[in-house]
Amino acid sequence: VSAPANVCVVIPAAGLGERLGLDQPKAFVAINNWSLLSLTIRRVLDIARVGHLIVAVPADFKTEALEHIDRAMRDANKKIPFDVVVGGETRTQSVKNSLLALDQLDSFVLVHDAARPFVPQSVFESVIGKLDNGAKVVIPVIPVSDTIKTVNEKSEVINTLDRTQLRAVQTPQGFAREVLSEIYATTDLKPTTDDAGLAEIAGINVSTVAGSVESFKVTTPFDLEMATNFMNRK
Ligand code: CTP
Ligand code: MG
Repeated sequence: VSAPANVCVVIPAAGLGERLGLDQPKAFVAINNWSLLSLTIRRVLDIARVGHLIVAVPADFKTEALEHIDRAMRDANKKIPFDVVVGGETRTQSVKNSLLALDQLDSFVLVHDAARPFVPQSVFESVIGKLDNGAKVVIPVIPVSDTIKTVNEKSEVINTLDRTQLRAVQTPQGFAREVLSEIYATTDLKPTTDDAGLAEIAGINVSTVAGSVESFKVTTPFDLEMATNFMNRK
């Protein structure tokens, strides 16, 4: 018997991509004629456990988003229920808006950035596996290879952090549905750069699994160039 498709993936894709600096929101920027959003959805559709998709997009991009979702589903030859919601000012608000579309059948929710189109299937499976084993919050992390220092307002070095204790944090970040709904339901919701940050504020244990260098986030023009080369490799 195969495991139930009780995983919902929420894709925040409502950012403007200011650091990328192109004339359209980052999720709709294309590599080889495939938008980052459609590439990301295409990867998500390879995960058998995923039975529901929620995508948050800028207000004027709902119709366009439908085309990108449809294209990914046709390419995967797989259709699953989906919702398109309008995002908010911050990533945190975009995820909060997405959670209104959650279904009772969604036991687990994975929040995955549209800006990480090359996330390997194995990372999704590690996150889901840990949730199956009872973890409430699971995030993929990778070791940090640079030395990291803190600086003051004048950019003078304060100190050096112990690299062995540092991890770079990626998505998909996985949650038991009730836990995610609960941490986003607080009245003084603080914008955090990732979802697990809210769990930490709430004092909930956060587990880690191995992320992947292939899961890099497209943020700057150089990242987009790397993404293009990565997609065209071999
Ligand atoms: N995001 C979102 N809603 C926002 C801001 C960000 O859904 N208000 C999404 C982005 O679309 C992206 C992910 O969150 O998929 C990670 O955010 P980031 O890389 O910062 O993307 P942008 O905010 O679009 O980029 P920038 O900060 O350079 O403007
Ligand atoms: Mg941003």
